[in-house]
Amino acid sequence: METIDWKNLGFGYSKADYNVRSWYRNGQWGEIEVTTDEHVTMHIGATCLHYGQESFEGIKAFRGQDGKIRVFRMDENAKRMQRSAQGIMLAEVPTSLFIDAVKKVVKLNEAFVPPFDSGASLYIRPLLIGTGPQIGVKPAEEYLFTIIVMPVGPYFKEGFKATDLVIYREYDRAAPLGTGKIKVGGNYAASMVAGQRAHQEGFSAVLYLDAREKKYIDECGPANFFAIKGNSYVTPRSESILPSITNMSLRQLAADMGMKIEERQIPVEELSEFDEVGACGTAAVISPIKRIYDADHDKEYLYGSEPGKVSVQLYEKLQGIQYGLEPDPYNWTTIIE
Ligand code: PLP
Ligand code: COI
Repeated sequence: METIDWKNLGFGYSKADYNVRSWYRNGQWGEIEVTTDEHVTMHIGATCLHYGQESFEGIKAFRGQDGKIRVFRMDENAKRMQRSAQGIMLAEVPTSLFIDAVKKVVKLNEAFVPPFDSGASLYIRPLLIGTGPQIGVKPAEEYLFTIIVMPVGPYFKEGFKATDLVIYREYDRAAPLGTGKIKVGGNYAASMVAGQRAHQEGFSAVLYLDAREKKYIDECGPANFFAIKGNSYVTPRSESILPSITNMSLRQLAADMGMKIEERQIPVEELSEFDEVGACGTAAVISPIKRIYDADHDKEYLYGSEPGKVSVQLYEKLQGIQYGLEPDPYNWTTIIE
């Protein structure tokens, strides 16, 4: 294995030793197979290729100071992938298969879990695709569930330093009653034009507004949105955002810190009333936001170039649990033996 520069990893693909796979055929899931092959052979009429019948997940494993590897809340990812499967008629992966496959692929690729003090982690990417052929628009009869892993650094290049977002009203990532609340590839394809424009214009990501009225904050392209207002943790309630497991965890941690949790519609103008704002997700962890530019109204909201006090506390608490430095009162982590 060539040496990895753990401290300078970005967020991108690299090859680990193994990936795991299970095929759904004749109405049942097969044994977990282990392979070193980075390619998948499938039918040219596969529904994932023609009709976007695919879902993915994102999970992280962390190496603690004690040397142990902890995976964060993978049972929640299993449940979310089941909801995605229901949303676009994929074969559902049972929680036990999902968890066994995660444990197996992490253990097999132990050497790729970054060292404790590197700031990096192992990104775990489960993928569920329709591999059976259909030319009429209907669900496949054959599916592949596979998991790849790779060591990663921060998603936004700034890491825990504050970043900039932009609001454009001419793009939606998902429709109000569409697929925004599940994790399917089509949502991400739909976000690429706006995402690319944001990068070209110097922003880390797009902050989407609700597609119906363009009045309320929805979420970022790859992460949820939260704000701190006095003693409240405020985050959007919307039918078209992905229920983030990181956000759910932060709500719990904020409540434990004595904060009030407000999950509600957030009008765009309220951006001027927040003390701190941030993006949160598995890849993004907590990414504090220093500036939100409303491109249509040429208006900017500024939050200071340093991460705010509450964001720092939440970040330290969350990462403390993930790296095994803090007690884990809700059993969020699973140690890979
Ligand atoms: N929102 C979107 C659109 C995402 O892709 C992600 C990443 O998974 C999130 C939010 C954050 O969710 P989680 O915290 O479960 O990773
Ligand atoms: C994650 O945070 O795991 C994501 O899936 C976000 C992005 C890489 C799509």
